[in-house]
Amino acid sequence: MKFGTEAYVLLLFLWLLLVSGLGVHAISYDYSATTECLVEPQRALYGGGIIVNPEFDHSIEGWTVFGKAAIEQRISKEGNRFIVARNRTQPLDSFSQKVQLDKGIIYSFSAWVQLSEGSETVSVIFKGDSSEVMHGGQVTAEHGCWTLLKGGIVANISSPVEILFEWTMQSENTTVEIWADSVSLQPFTKQQWRSHQDKSIEKVRKSMVRFQISEATDSALEGARVLCIQRKPRFPFGCGMNHHILESTEYQNWFASRFKYTTFTNEMKWYSTETKQGQENYTIPDGMLKFAKHHGISVRGHNIFWDNPKEQPEWVKSVCPHELRKAAARRIKSVVSRYRGELIAWDVVNENLHFNFFENKLGGNASAEYYAKTYQLDPKPILFLNEYNTIEYCRDKTATPVNYMKKLEQILSFPGCANISAGIGLQGHFCSGQPNLAYMRSALDLLGTAGLPIWVTEVSVARDANQAQYLEEILREAYAHPAVDGIIAFAGPAIAGFNETTLVDENFQNTPAGDVVDMLINEWKYEPREATADSRGYVDVSLYHGDYDVTVMHPITNSSKTVNLSVSKDVPQESITVKIRT
Ligand SMILES: *[C@@H]1O[C@H](CO)[C@@H](O)[C@H](O)[C@H]1NC(C)=O
Ligand SMILES: *[C@@H]1O[C@H](CO)[C@@H](O)[C@H](O)[C@H]1NC(C)=O
Ligand SMILES: *[C@@H]1O[C@H](CO)[C@@H](O)[C@H](O)[C@H]1NC(C)=O
Ligand SMILES: *[C@@H]1O[C@H](CO)[C@@H](O)[C@H](O)[C@H]1NC(C)=O
Ligand SMILES: *[C@@H]1O[C@H](CO)[C@@H](O)[C@H](O)[C@H]1NC(C)=O
Ligand SMILES: *[C@@H]1O[C@H](CO)[C@@H](O)[C@H](O)[C@H]1NC(C)=O
Ligand SMILES: *[C@@H]1O[C@H](CO)[C@@H](O)[C@H](O)[C@H]1NC(C)=O
Ligand SMILES: *[C@@H]1O[C@H](CO)[C@@H](O)[C@H](O)[C@H]1NC(C)=O
Ligand SMILES: *[C@@H]1O[C@H](CO)[C@@H](O)[C@H](O)[C@H]1NC(C)=O
Repeated sequence: MKFGTEAYVLLLFLWLLLVSGLGVHAISYDYSATTECLVEPQRALYGGGIIVNPEFDHSIEGWTVFGKAAIEQRISKEGNRFIVARNRTQPLDSFSQKVQLDKGIIYSFSAWVQLSEGSETVSVIFKGDSSEVMHGGQVTAEHGCWTLLKGGIVANISSPVEILFEWTMQSENTTVEIWADSVSLQPFTKQQWRSHQDKSIEKVRKSMVRFQISEATDSALEGARVLCIQRKPRFPFGCGMNHHILESTEYQNWFASRFKYTTFTNEMKWYSTETKQGQENYTIPDGMLKFAKHHGISVRGHNIFWDNPKEQPEWVKSVCPHELRKAAARRIKSVVSRYRGELIAWDVVNENLHFNFFENKLGGNASAEYYAKTYQLDPKPILFLNEYNTIEYCRDKTATPVNYMKKLEQILSFPGCANISAGIGLQGHFCSGQPNLAYMRSALDLLGTAGLPIWVTEVSVARDANQAQYLEEILREAYAHPAVDGIIAFAGPAIAGFNETTLVDENFQNTPAGDVVDMLINEWKYEPREATADSRGYVDVSLYHGDYDVTVMHPITNSSKTVNLSVSKDVPQESITVKIRT
C-alpha cells in the first residue's frame, strides 16, 4: 500500500457511543408497541395525559355511558381497578369521556383493553359534535389478559370530542364485556412531535463513530485530519417512475441525480404486459429496467397480480375460473422468470385486503399460493403485501393494521410460504387535510411487532394548500420510525403525468413538494466536513448509515490514506482495526 514518505500506523477503531437524547421535553414519545397480552395492565402512558381518572382509582368518575351499555368499576383479585361496559347491543355502546381538542395539536392515545370472553378487534373512536366518527387505532383484544391499544388523532379544529370504544360484536353475544384500564391521551405540539422524530432519526439512522489515529509507535497523532465522504446512503428513499422516462432525457437526468430506488408505477402490471391474451410485450419495462441498471437504481417489482377486479387485463375479467388458473400460472411464470435476480422486491398480489378477485375465482388460498410460487421462481427478493389506507386511514377500515396482520399471518402460515422473506408494503396515499401522524405512528408500531421489513411503497399526498408541508411531515414520520426500511414516493414530473403530487413543473422547476423531497435527500445524507484528531488521536463523527470513503491526512507531511467504511446499525457490534504500513 502506498502511503506517502513517512511510515506510520493508522489504527482505526469504530464503535458506537450512546447518542444522548435531546433532553428538551420531559415527555418523550414511546415508539414501542407490544402485542403481548399481560396479566395486569401497565401504568397509563404520560400519567394519562388529559384523561380524567385514567387508572380508575376514583371509581368511574369522569366517565359516562355511551349508548345503552351499563358501566361500572371492577377490581381484580390483585386489587387493580378498571372499567367495564356490559349489556352492550350496539358496536359503539361503551364507556366514554369527553375531552377538548385544540387545533393543530397531535394527540397520542393508548389504553389497555380486555374482553370478558373470546377475541375481537377493539377500536378507539373519536366522535365530534357532528355525527362523524374517526377511527383512531385498533387492536385485537382477548379474554384473560390485557392488550395495548395505541392510536391517536390530530385536531384540525378546536372542539370537544368523545372517546369511545368500538367492538364489532361479530358473535353478537351481548353478554361479552369490554374492560379498559390505563387510558391516556397525551397532547403534543408539532414542535414536540418534530423533536421526537429528530431524536429517533439520530438513534435509528445514524451512528456515532470514533476514529483513533496513531503513529507507528502507537502514539496518538494529534492534528491528523479526517474527511468522511458518503458514497451511498444506506436508507432507501426512492421514487416511482413511469414510461415517460424512456422519452425524456430531462426526466432521466432529474431522476438519476436524485434516486437509487424505484418502482414502475404501471408498466410491469399484467394489464400492461399482456393487453391481448397470449401477446406479451415487455418492451417498456425492459427499457425502464435497463435505464435503472445503467444508473445503479434498484427496482421493486410491481406487481405480479392485482386483486382488484377492475384492474385486470380486459380479457381476464371474463374468463372462467379454469381458464383463469391457467392464464395466471402463465403470467406469474412469465414475469417472474423474466426479471429473476434483477429486482429487490415483488408486490405479489397487490391490495389483497381490499379485494379478492383471485380468491373469489380460485379459492381462499389464491394469494398464498402465488407468494409460494414467486418464492420458487425467484427466492431472493422480499415478497410484499401492498395495501392502501393502513397508515393513512382516509376513513377506510378495510386494511387496518389489525386486518393487515391477520392477512399476513394467513399467508405466512400457508405451507408453501414456510421459507419466504415477506415484507409489509404500505402504499401511503394520503388524502387531503392534516395527516393523522399519531395514527400513522401507532399503525407502524403495531405492524413493527411482526419483525418484518416495512416499506412505505407509494407515498403521495392529495392536492391541498398545505400539500408540501403534509408531505414533509409524512416522510419524516416514516423515516424516523425504527421499523421502516424504505420509502418510495409515487410522485414526479408534471410532464410524466404526476398531477397529484407533482415534484417539478413542465419546465422541471421544483414545486413546493419538490423542494421538500430535495431538502430531505440532502438532509438525510452526510455533508463532508473535515475533523481534526485531538490529543488522544480521537475524531468523533455522527454518520448517517451508508458507505463512506474515509481519508486521513497526516498533520505534517499531508500524506493521506483512504479506507472504505460501511456504517449501519449492525456495525457498532464489531470493532474495526485497520493497520497500514509502508
Ligand atoms: C344486564 O344484563 C344482565 C344479564 O343479562 C341483566 O341481569 C341485567 O339486568 C342487565 N343490566 C342492565 C343495566 O341492563
Ligand atoms: C377537519 O376534518 C374533518 C374530518 O376529517 C373535515 O370534514 C373538515 O372539513 C376539516 N376541517 C377543517 C377546518 O379543515
Ligand atoms: C354468549 O356467552 C355466554 C357466556 O360465555 C355463553 O354462555 C353463551 O352461550 C354465548 N351465546 C352465544 C349466542 O354465543
Ligand atoms: C411492443 O410494445 C412496444 C412499445 O409500446 C411497441 O413499440 C411494439 O410495437 C410492441 N410490439 C409488438 C409486437 O406489438
Ligand atoms: C388454505 O390452506 C390451508 C393450509 O394448507 C388449509 O388448511 C385450508 O383449508 C385452505 N383453504 C382453502 C379455502 O383452500
Ligand atoms: C423450507 O426450507 C426447509 C429447510 O431448507 C426445507 O426442508 C423445506 O422443504 C422448505 N419448504 C418449502 C415450502 O420450501
Ligand atoms: C390527473 O390525471 C388523471 C389521469 O390522467 C386524471 O384522471 C385526473 O383528473 C388528473 N387530476 C388532476 C388534479 O389534474
Ligand atoms: C500541508 O497542507 C497544508 C494545507 O493544505 C499546507 O499549508 C502545508 O504547506 C502542507 N505541508 C506540506 C509538507 O506539504
Ligand atoms: C472502496 O470501495 C469502492 C467501491 O466498492 C472501491 O471502488 C474502492 O476501490 C474501495 N477503496 C478502497 C480504498 O478500498
